[in-house]
Amino acid sequence: MHGNIVAGNVEDICLPEGSNTLPRSIVASAFLAVTCFAMVFMAACSLDAKPEPTPEEPAAPHVDSGSGMAFIEPFDDPTEPLPMARATIRRGESEPDIVVNPSSRLVLVNKERNLPPDYAPEDLVRPNIPFPFEGELPRMMMRSEAAAAIEELVTAAGEEGLVIFGSSGYRSYETQRAIFESNVQRRGETEANRFSARPGQSEHQTGLAMDVTSPDVGYGLVQSFGDTAEGIWIEENAHEFGFIVRYPRDSEHITGYAYEPWHLRYVGCDHAKIIRDTSLTFEEYMQER
Ligand code: DAL
Ligand code: ZN
Repeated sequence: MHGNIVAGNVEDICLPEGSNTLPRSIVASAFLAVTCFAMVFMAACSLDAKPEPTPEEPAAPHVDSGSGMAFIEPFDDPTEPLPMARATIRRGESEPDIVVNPSSRLVLVNKERNLPPDYAPEDLVRPNIPFPFEGELPRMMMRSEAAAAIEELVTAAGEEGLVIFGSSGYRSYETQRAIFESNVQRRGETEANRFSARPGQSEHQTGLAMDVTSPDVGYGLVQSFGDTAEGIWIEENAHEFGFIVRYPRDSEHITGYAYEPWHLRYVGCDHAKIIRDTSLTFEEYMQER
């Protein structure tokens, strides 16, 4: 049984780090050699300077928002080769290992690979899917691309007469801490470690995960969900919408967590299809890259 605990507030939104300016145009002309005129020209050019991409994730494309000030780092380009898991970690001697690509759709987060504590996605939105509770809560949110995908998944399931509800999406580092500590209190640390991530080690902090459920299981997050029509449909179809069942059966020795048929992780359609076709865990898939 997975903890189903109220999430906290969205907080600590992480802004891109410092930016540089693009090279200025070089204007070479004998008539512009007059010093004061050249100074005026360069000053005018600097007004058009745009920030450069943050060096956080060199393989990923970047999109200028058009404002010349704000800068949005989007998902990876699925056509670009991405580094293997071992290339996306910052190893510390005393600190836990921290991933350097928290905003990648392929970020690998697990018990060995922590998110920066202050990382929060910039593009969280509430997908238009049903939840078994009211309100506008952080736990209802996902990153925009993942939110659109979960809407399509829930709609497609509905067209086949299946009823899928969202239960738990985005969680901040602090919310995950509260959830983990609560699970330790209720179930003991050894058991909690099998289904609940420590703060910094949860995919929910990425905004790319959504726990789903259904009326058939009383809106719970239970392993028997995997045997319901909804759970079976998800197992067979989630990849078509870019999701993987992140913690498959019999994979605890690799993923670190017991079977969670409810925990969907968005990785994009291309990767989700390969992962599904090869029956690899996400850990194995990222090592193979
Ligand atoms: N249930 C998964 C492991 C989490 O807490 O993120
Ligand atoms: Zn989950």
